[in-house]
Amino acid sequence: MTAANAQQRDQGTAPRTAEQTELHPHLNRAHVRFINLGKTYDGRVHALQGIDLAIQRGEVFGIIGRSGAGKSSLIRTINRLEQPSSGRVLIDQVDIGEFDEDRLVALRRRIGMIFQHFNLMSAKTVWQNV
Ligand SMILES: Nc1ncnc2c1ncn2[C@@H]1O[C@H](COP(=O)(O)OP(=O)(O)OP(=O)(O)O)[C@@H](O)[C@H]1O
Ligand SMILES: [Mg+2]
Repeated sequence: MTAANAQQRDQGTAPRTAEQTELHPHLNRAHVRFINLGKTYDGRVHALQGIDLAIQRGEVFGIIGRSGAGKSSLIRTINRLEQPSSGRVLIDQVDIGEFDEDRLVALRRRIGMIFQHFNLMSAKTVWQNV
């Protein structure tokens, strides 16, 4: 996934960059903010490159892309289940790259996540699974 296709919701506009925050103060108040985020696996698979995104509190935000585009890699950086190779992730203006284990545990308790392979229990209803 590149910054360009991660920002398809801004069709027709240039991707936002960290340097543009002064021009767009709402970026500084974002609930979730990715700044020039990159993730490379095994030194050769460039799953994420230059992701700049600002998601506001209460916003319903979808990330779409073909299989292998990097959706899961991106989502998993929100609570550092995935360690970015470059760039920063800010939650409520706080850089979670600085968090120690204790703060990470507290953060992960606040962030709900349903995993892609989540082993639903067939004997239970949808509600019970949730
Ligand atoms: N742990 C890993 N080690 C090495 N490569 C990985 C790892 N996790 C993901 N990748 C690679 O990174 C790229 C992005 O994978 P990712 O799982 O983030 O994509 P995705 O958009 O979630 O795909 P899908 O729609 O299939 O769930 C792919 O090329 C994938 O093979
Ligand atoms: Mg996935």
